[in-house]
Amino acid sequence: MTEKDFLTSEYSSLKNTGKVRWKSPSNIALVKYWGKKKNQIPANPSISFTLHTCATDTSVSYRKLDKKATEFSFDLFFEGKLKDDFRPKIETFFKRIETYLPFLREYHFKIETSNSFPHSSGIASSASGMSALALCLMAMERELIPEMDTDFFNKKASFLARLGSGSACRSIEGPLVQWGKHSTIEASSDFYGIEYPYKVHEIFMNFQDTILLVDEGQKQISSTVGHDSMHGHPFAEQRFGQALKHLSDFQTILGDGNLGEFIKIVESEALTLHAMMMTSHPYFILMKPNTLEIINRIWSFRKSSKSNVCFTLDAGANVHVLYPGKEKETVYEFIKSELLQFCENGKHICDRTGSGAKNMSKTPAT
Ligand code: DP6
Repeated sequence: MTEKDFLTSEYSSLKNTGKVRWKSPSNIALVKYWGKKKNQIPANPSISFTLHTCATDTSVSYRKLDKKATEFSFDLFFEGKLKDDFRPKIETFFKRIETYLPFLREYHFKIETSNSFPHSSGIASSASGMSALALCLMAMERELIPEMDTDFFNKKASFLARLGSGSACRSIEGPLVQWGKHSTIEASSDFYGIEYPYKVHEIFMNFQDTILLVDEGQKQISSTVGHDSMHGHPFAEQRFGQALKHLSDFQTILGDGNLGEFIKIVESEALTLHAMMMTSHPYFILMKPNTLEIINRIWSFRKSSKSNVCFTLDAGANVHVLYPGKEKETVYEFIKSELLQFCENGKHICDRTGSGAKNMSKTPAT
């Protein structure tokens, strides 16, 4: 499918009022998206685990305006409070998607959103936030086009979410979502994420992700600056080639459940992401001494215990500790006794792989 397939001709009629609600999870990339082209097209394909617990719950109440608005008309409430500093991001998002959702200027929207994780945790909420909003808008469009099938609904929701934040397009389905054209992944697309289309070993259906909050509240590097740093980066081409290879290698690794090889790719991806930051212009370091302490402790524990625990990193200092569900007790004991001392006030979030976003429209608000 191409961009044209997501255009909608005029709707036969528009509803006057209504309310939709979706809950969308965060995701953690195993092969990282770092670098993009115009219109939110990724410089290389990526793949992520969809999470279960870290999520954004968004509802959109809509009221038809008497006449089409010149400016987008909306109020945004974050955790019950009017939040004007989020407006520019939503306005940019609406501008980017209005060609695909021509009803946007016909309504006033009341957007109410909240996260399951603390706002100050340093966990990026753009993936879950933008995908939840994209899903709400798609739910509205489905009310106008009731014959829309689930496959189209999911693809267009992912397509729209991508225009809000690239990684958000990987938060619609789960537990493994791939985004970005790759020659050996047949249905792959630069425009939206797809549920990984090949065999996935059951071990990955219940993978744990304990997120260690090393640097709570610190602003992460803005994604714009980060992705921009890959333009003219001395190692950009090698990096993009490496990501392509990692995705090819993943095909047998994910199918066979080969954890040894899985770990090599996941950790290499995390360190390469940060290596790109350290070797760009401007260069920057987001890891903290405690990030490195944690990584070294994970490596020692893995060696001595033969565990399959590993780590990955986002664009920040926090560490995602990944391990199979069947090692849950032993690894969590290790985390408590050795790793939590390196977190701010011992703070961490226990998450795991999840199955994707949920329609909450029939669930009463709490
Ligand atoms: C390091 O999706 O936040 O988390 O498209 O500019 O919103 P924008 O970027 P964003 O970048 C995510 C970068 C990453 C890696 C990843 O999730 O693949």
